[in-house]
Amino acid sequence: MIPIRRGMRRPVRRSAGIPARTAGDPPTPPGTPLRPTGSRSRTGETVPVEDAPSIPVVRNDAHDRVVTEVLAARHFRHLSPDLVARVTTIEAPKVRRHNEAVARVKRKLHQIANAYTPALHAPRDAADALRSAAGDEDALRTLAISLMYGHASTAERLPVHDLITPRLREAIHGTSGSDGPINPGERVDAETPARILDLACGLNPLMIPWLGLPRTCRYDAYDADSRLVSIVQAFLEAWGQAGSATVRDIGGQDTTETADVVLLLKAVPCLEQVRVGTSRRILETLNANRVIVTYPVQSLGGNDRGMRATYRQAFDNLVAGLPWHVAELRLPDELGYLLTRKAPPAPVSQ
Ligand SMILES: C[S@@+](CC[C@H](N)C(=O)[O-])C[C@H]1O[C@@H](n2cnc3c(N)ncnc32)[C@H](O)[C@@H]1O
Repeated sequence: MIPIRRGMRRPVRRSAGIPARTAGDPPTPPGTPLRPTGSRSRTGETVPVEDAPSIPVVRNDAHDRVVTEVLAARHFRHLSPDLVARVTTIEAPKVRRHNEAVARVKRKLHQIANAYTPALHAPRDAADALRSAAGDEDALRTLAISLMYGHASTAERLPVHDLITPRLREAIHGTSGSDGPINPGERVDAETPARILDLACGLNPLMIPWLGLPRTCRYDAYDADSRLVSIVQAFLEAWGQAGSATVRDIGGQDTTETADVVLLLKAVPCLEQVRVGTSRRILETLNANRVIVTYPVQSLGGNDRGMRATYRQAFDNLVAGLPWHVAELRLPDELGYLLTRKAPPAPVSQ
């Protein structure tokens, strides 16, 4: 277990699960100039149309005014403009007035991003501290632990840090290896990946020191929150890890990079909250050998609400018919799966 040392942030009490649906998400009157590509279900969710799963962002004056106002707001200006534009395309047509559209877009952005970072303070200072500690592995490990309390998803892993890191390490390396400690920088044999993509990464890349990756393994991380991305970038540089952190709306832009391992940790509920079908599209279009998908088992408010069973079912639907072998990971406090690409069928001889 990780002791909480002086100067470290206390864990946030709220769990990193999906935020409770905000009250006031009523069925909304149809009819505005903005229409997303997709249809609306009876619950008001946008459902994907069969052959057009990505949403072209509709730009017009009404749309742009909403985007501009949201991005000018102090609590939202750090978010990816592409994500704000995409959420506006989906949410604004559900209401009539500009102010309602702004409020609706902000509410959705809060649910999928800001709700996870109430404990994130002074991200620039965090990045500076990381740069100052460059090359000092012990100092970087201590800083990483302290900073991971700033994002609800990593904060809730810290009490079980010693249990979860060997499991993630095994899954990433494609081994059934032991739970024994790996010395800093030590390679794990078998299939040590050459490239990892961490999608909707939060502060998860700060776990790198415990994953037994060689510094040459390229670790590319994406998130919609530029404050998190700047911390992750500073960490990658300070730790000397190949790779980079980039602001990207992973629901709006296909991930075309080739990778050995893709991490999609606790991100599926956020993606589906914006548009149902987004995660499946990501799994369909990835160029990767292995994907690790996890779900939270508690809401941000700390409730269980049967989430494990709900997400187990959601995951079964997510991968149904896709060319992945599925194995469940034994993760504490998180529902996790390792997806391994099935070999393409052998050509039928004539
Ligand atoms: C539940 S957290 C998971 C964070 C991290 N994967 C982990 O498990 O520690 C979801 C993260 O996804 C990010 N996010 C939400 N929607 C996104 C999108 N469309 N593109 C990129 N990042 C997104 C949020 O900013 C947040 O950091």
